[in-house]
Amino acid sequence: MNFIKVNTYEELSARAAAIICGQVAMKPNCVLGLATGSSPVGAYKKIAEKNNTGEVDFSNVKSVNLDEYVGLNGDHEQSYRYFMNNNLFKHINIDINNTYVPNGCATDVEAECKAYDVLIEKLGGIDLQLLGIGYDGHIGFNEPDTYFEKATHKVTLDSSTIEANSRFFASRDDVPTQAITMGMGGIMSAKKVLLIANGKGKRDIVEKAFFGPITPSVPASILQLHPDLTVIYSEN
Ligand code: GLP
Repeated sequence: MNFIKVNTYEELSARAAAIICGQVAMKPNCVLGLATGSSPVGAYKKIAEKNNTGEVDFSNVKSVNLDEYVGLNGDHEQSYRYFMNNNLFKHINIDINNTYVPNGCATDVEAECKAYDVLIEKLGGIDLQLLGIGYDGHIGFNEPDTYFEKATHKVTLDSSTIEANSRFFASRDDVPTQAITMGMGGIMSAKKVLLIANGKGKRDIVEKAFFGPITPSVPASILQLHPDLTVIYSEN
């Protein structure tokens, strides 16, 4: 594991953007695994800047996102499709048809989950997976459990996750209680993994996840077994 501690969110974002753009430069038709949440917003801004100055070209890149709320369609302002369109895709020259986010409004959620894993395989797997981390150690929406779930699946969100994410919704009651998330198999089979975390509040979970025992009660801890993991942490 390459654990990088930086001083500011700005630096974290710059480093993350450099790694992601480096991946695209090395393999212009790569598959990026992308994440939502507040952590990647700064990196996405910097990626857009680099794309706009012609430093990096996303025209042949494909992307697969980690997760989506069940019940929200892509037009809903809190859906992860909407987040990705507005925080990244609209600002770079990626072909929107090459960007994938699970469909939270699928009538058959199980079939949607299976199809998502087939899609990842068809794309040739993920070259670089970007991750944030939840306060309870979740990655994507893989919540603490007694085992690591391999496949893309539907989850019931922990009340602490609903609470944490309620800051983006009008009220706690508006937060969906379920989500579709890529499983640990999809995440762990990515060739490279980059996890970013910032803020004093994330310090304990970062310590547990990367310097504590590997356990499904801290889902991110499985990443310690990944052969090419970079963690960037900024306390500020
Ligand atoms: C959400 C997302 C995760 C994200 C996490 C942390 O629940 N499903 O992918 O990593 O929140 O979000 P933040 O970066 O806002 O702390």
